[in-house]
Amino acid sequence: MSTESTAGPAKIRLRHLQQAKVEGRPFTMLTAYDQFSAQIFESAGIEVLLVGDSVGTTVLGHASTTASTHQDMLTFTGAVARSVTRPLVVADLAFGTYESGPADALRHGVELVRAGAEAVKLEGGAEIVPQVRALVDAGIPVVGHLGFTPQSVNSLSGHRVQGRGDAAAEKLVVDALALQGAGAAAVVLELVPAAVAEAVTEALEVPTIGIGAGPRCDGQVLVWQDMAGLSGFHGKFVKAFADLRGQLQAAAEQYRAEVGERRYPGPEHSFD
Ligand code: KIV
Repeated sequence: MSTESTAGPAKIRLRHLQQAKVEGRPFTMLTAYDQFSAQIFESAGIEVLLVGDSVGTTVLGHASTTASTHQDMLTFTGAVARSVTRPLVVADLAFGTYESGPADALRHGVELVRAGAEAVKLEGGAEIVPQVRALVDAGIPVVGHLGFTPQSVNSLSGHRVQGRGDAAAEKLVVDALALQGAGAAAVVLELVPAAVAEAVTEALEVPTIGIGAGPRCDGQVLVWQDMAGLSGFHGKFVKAFADLRGQLQAAAEQYRAEVGERRYPGPEHSFD
């Protein structure tokens, strides 16, 4: 007998994402790095929270995700994992923690799981199959990441759409199938032409999760500060569903004005 209510499962597992793909129901993933944003996204019903290495560029002030460290990922994964119960928590393996081989990937993956991750994400295709196998064999679910892979921003010569042209599109499908064959439970597709992302999605049994990859992926992911209009980043693939930057600035300006005019704190904010 199923214990799942009509509101959906009390805890999102990878099998629910798989089920969503089979049933043609798109699901959502948002990045999260801290307690309050994670809790708000849980309340909003977001199924998957990604503690992305984008924490480096959205929270820590770095220019590239290559600056995010394993310790950063452990700290922010712990913060998110302790703050929510329902969403699936996925954490990024930081740049430099898995490229050298399966043993390194496994060691760092185990530490992310100890910090609270329920799956780990790493960037790359067929070349990281041994790492994916080692993680999966150890019981650590893996999410792949293809297309524009931010940790390779230097070798990809900047933020550019990947998979254009027949050969590149074919390579994406081959890489995605290799990740799936190694046991990956889902694959993120970043900055990929919509038609190519659709072809990858059709070729795979596991779900694809798109960011700048059109509407036909099984799920969608955005960096939360872009989604909420806090970062001010207006890339073509981004839709800002709020104006947090404007609202926060207005609030700070009003606070400053009220303090300057001695209107805040008032008697109701003061102790006898
Ligand atoms: O780190 C991140 O935020 C990501 C998303 C862009 C998918 O990997």
